Amino acid sequence: MGMRIDVITIFPEIFTPLQSSILKRAAEKKLLEINIHDLRDFTQDRHRKVDDAPYGGGRGMVLKCEPIFAAVKSIKKQNKKAQVLLTTPQGKLFTQESAREFSREKGLIIICGHYEGVDERVLSIVDGEVSIGDYVLTGGELPAMVIADCVARLIPGVRPDEAPVYDSFEKCLLDWECYTRPEVFNGMRVPDVLLSGNHGQISDWRRKRALERTRERRPDLYGKFLRENNNG
Ligand code: 6GU
Repeated sequence: MGMRIDVITIFPEIFTPLQSSILKRAAEKKLLEINIHDLRDFTQDRHRKVDDAPYGGGRGMVLKCEPIFAAVKSIKKQNKKAQVLLTTPQGKLFTQESAREFSREKGLIIICGHYEGVDERVLSIVDGEVSIGDYVLTGGELPAMVIADCVARLIPGVRPDEAPVYDSFEKCLLDWECYTRPEVFNGMRVPDVLLSGNHGQISDWRRKRALERTRERRPDLYGKFLRENNNG
């Protein structure tokens, strides 16, 4: 049936955006179930300690093994075939292709990392380490939300328009520009071709704009497009 995503975090309260709009409808249609777990609930000690000072000294705190192992073990009982991911700037770069692969899984368990570090032994229960880009965030919570959102919209039936997904980064082209009413706003006109009603001309124009914009803004992506389409 649907996909189940479990998130393990020390900041469960910041995940409210995932309960809105498209993802909410997906949950109502039973296509997707997202569960947020507070790592502190899996501690055994009186102080509910989730982190500790690094061996070898230095600044910052490191997320401890025990609560993470307990959380994953407990969640795996319900989400049996889930892939376990850890969000960390040291991970493999998350792309549309990764989102596509994850969307085919039965379940995901996302452990939110901590920028100061996670005990390395946690990797023994992790299937993949994931980073969302070359910049540093304070924690893995925003990356977990990014991953959940990208993956969720690829699950069949989740997006309201139901069109087969064929996104920019899968066809290696950026989108063309779009407009809606009014025809003139602050002296700025909608391109004539879009008002022409000539569907052949409109799709030629859109194709041309997508190619031009990609070549100008993202030469890297444009190169990939040319290679994958053999110049055609
Ligand atoms: Cl997954 N974590 C953190 N802390 N920073 C990041 C990241 C992850 N991906 C990009 N920056």
